[in-house]
Amino acid sequence: MWLEKLETPALILDLDIFEENMKTMKEFLGPAGLALRPHYKSHKCTDIAHRQIAAGAKGITCAKLGEAEDLANSGIEDILIANQVVQPSKIARVAYLAGCCHLTVCVDNADNVYALEKAASIQGSTIYCLVEFEVGMNRCGVDTFKKFYELAELISKCPHLVFEGIQAYAGHLSHETDYERRKSEVGEIEQRIAELRGYVEKRGLHVKEVSGVSTGTVEFRKGGSVYTEIQAGSYIFMDAAYNSLNLHFKNALFVLTTVISTNTNLIVADAGKKSVSVDQATPVFKEFPQLPVDMSEEHSTVSVKEHSIVLGNKLMLIPGHCCTTMNLHSHLYLVRNGRVEDKIPVTSRGKSL
Ligand SMILES: Cc1ncc(COP(=O)(O)O)c(C=O)c1O
Repeated sequence: MWLEKLETPALILDLDIFEENMKTMKEFLGPAGLALRPHYKSHKCTDIAHRQIAAGAKGITCAKLGEAEDLANSGIEDILIANQVVQPSKIARVAYLAGCCHLTVCVDNADNVYALEKAASIQGSTIYCLVEFEVGMNRCGVDTFKKFYELAELISKCPHLVFEGIQAYAGHLSHETDYERRKSEVGEIEQRIAELRGYVEKRGLHVKEVSGVSTGTVEFRKGGSVYTEIQAGSYIFMDAAYNSLNLHFKNALFVLTTVISTNTNLIVADAGKKSVSVDQATPVFKEFPQLPVDMSEEHSTVSVKEHSIVLGNKLMLIPGHCCTTMNLHSHLYLVRNGRVEDKIPVTSRGKSL
């Protein structure tokens, strides 16, 4: 099937660019000796997770327990839920899942540690734990070395839990457009995490993993980094928000649209906010990258002084934010050289539990 024959709006992955992005990431991380544990939130497709593992990823990061269950059911064996799981019913599911695969969760609270230990003892499973350290994002995590060590020590005394190391995700710097600022602030965080690791290890606990890092900050990780694994997600797709940083990755994800009206200098296509997310940036047309796009519920409109676009032409929208756009679609078309090679389900679409 030719790409332009698809009914629209249709979510499209350019396989050549996707594979090139995976290669670029490998070239960054290989010399630095860093492992890749890419974030599932960016695609939510078990098919893509398996392609990432085949390309060298050591395991997969995800945000939600439901995503972890989908990944495990598809045969992924090493999964990190980069989040706190606290509801009793979910903790029971975590403990069960930990008996099916190598499962790591993040913690930042002693009561949560006790609850995880209790559930794992009932299941006879082992849950691996990263203690989350707050690095300026103002989200989860403990904020002092002392609190961090106390939690790590508590975990190390639990027979069904294993203290694996540090979760340190500086998401507030991912989209910092000032290159020098991004670089220096990421460097300061790296220094602080190295001090934290020293503090914990001086007291007798081994820090096996330091996990974090996004698409926007991965290029600053060189050999000798305190991080051991990289959780970047968007690098495979890119989007309009990340385009403003001029990174080394290219746009591979698009929403194919059809022009439904062009009576004036306005070109109106059939994909709106229900097909392309706008939460981090406004989408742009690949064909008119410099022009602002006006988005409504079911339309995207661009004003072009002179053009040869006619009704029925196809245009490609670059999503504002790739991760939330994926969650708007049930399928992703895999395309190479203008031909549809496959149609895969967005397996974990809507899995927020
Ligand atoms: C904990 C965590 N790690 C990694 C990422 C991946 O970030 P990106 O998609 O910007 O590479 C995110 C994104 O929100 C995240 O929350």
